[in-house]
Amino acid sequence: MMGMVNRVVDWVDARLPVVDSYKRHMSEYYAPKNFNFWYYFGVLSLVVLINQLLTGIWLTMFFSPNEGFASVEYIMRDVEWGWLIRYMHAVGASAFFAVIYIHMFRGLMYGSYKPPRELVWIFGMLIYLALMAEGFLGYVLPWGNMSYWGAQVIISLAGAIPFDLLPFISATEAKEIGEGLTTWVRGDYLLSTATVNKFFALHVVAIPIVLLALVVLHILALHEVGSNNPDGVEIKQNKDENGVPVDGIPFHPYYTVKDLPGVIVFLMIFAVVIFFFPDGGGYLLEKPNFEPANPLKTPDHIAPVWYYGPYYAMLRATTIDFIMSSKAWGLVAMGGAIVILFVIPWLDRHPVKSIRYRGGLSKLFMALFVLDFLMLGYFGTQPATPGKTMMAQFGTIYYFSYFLLIMPFVHKFEKSKPVPERVTGGH
Ligand code: HEM
Repeated sequence: MMGMVNRVVDWVDARLPVVDSYKRHMSEYYAPKNFNFWYYFGVLSLVVLINQLLTGIWLTMFFSPNEGFASVEYIMRDVEWGWLIRYMHAVGASAFFAVIYIHMFRGLMYGSYKPPRELVWIFGMLIYLALMAEGFLGYVLPWGNMSYWGAQVIISLAGAIPFDLLPFISATEAKEIGEGLTTWVRGDYLLSTATVNKFFALHVVAIPIVLLALVVLHILALHEVGSNNPDGVEIKQNKDENGVPVDGIPFHPYYTVKDLPGVIVFLMIFAVVIFFFPDGGGYLLEKPNFEPANPLKTPDHIAPVWYYGPYYAMLRATTIDFIMSSKAWGLVAMGGAIVILFVIPWLDRHPVKSIRYRGGLSKLFMALFVLDFLMLGYFGTQPATPGKTMMAQFGTIYYFSYFLLIMPFVHKFEKSKPVPERVTGGH
């Protein structure tokens, strides 16, 4: 029997390098032996991705974009286990952003975007962008009242692009272009089922394909250069006589076994939220979305889901009308906040990779950055008051200062600790 299996494997392998790929990416992929807690979140991102794809396929079997709200009600009440699949998918969206934010924060802490991993980071950022688009499109589908008004606010941003700044376009023409763009995005003169149909196609086919392709590229790029680690030591610089990094261990079985308990604990927490707090007190599923879309009834306070909070806070923080409308400045702030993340590998000029061996100032400013991002996130979900807007303005200024003023120069003002030759821990 084994002989036959081996013959089949050999036959396939002569035509497609399956065994070779398995070795390169699993049994002979040498990962640093000192991975810590923060290194669980890459594999958790994969787990949530698979959850979203599977539950998404099953939801698509019962969902109809022409009957958005009613078809979600049908899934929740009449389809067997439909409520579970729907909650797994809706809570899964928040779980996705939670693990991704922690995954990105790990990269920030350990300087994982620094050479030679810039491409790993760029693919990660493209994933993050695709994920934000995917989340927005999915949120519109159940056609609740917040789906409707959220889409209204975001799509209207296309009309705020200041085309009139271009020399050959008048203000009237700019307005027409803006209106044309919003009509094109909606696929109708008003938000309608035409919009939901279009968003459905993008949400279930177009973006998932892009997302999957990017995840494959992200991991291929990582495996080409090898993983970083909490010490920021390049393990490939220290190899034994067989060319194997002395501080590396084969990914399989060591990390597959280590990752398993992490995945189980994550799934337990995920299950508790799904079964006991599926709406997360209005933070995971917002209250107005339990009512059908109603163009005549604006929710008291239009707010995005928590994971867009920081950017929404920045969008609303701009209050000046100078050269462009304040809304256009808001777009610049929001877009700039994301674009700047792409170029972190070139903004961070610290000679030391990991935060472990950087000086106190780096640690202080990074801690403040985390608090700032959380604060902006909170304000983004709250109704705007003059006090909160002012705090969001300070938050926005610190956000940009962190990347443009602190990251490139902080090393000049602090003393770093010596970086060890070999990784520490993990023995
Ligand atoms: C669907 C989303 C994503 C998936 C499935 C994913 C998956 C992974 C996996 C499996 C690893 C190796 C294990 C680990 O280091 O934790 C990894 C590493 C990495 N990811 Fe992601 N990732 C995703 C999104 C992102 C995003 C949004 C960023 C940042 C913008 C990012 C940046 C990185 C970096 C810098 C590394 C190398 C870390 C190191 O070696 O220290 N990833 N990713």
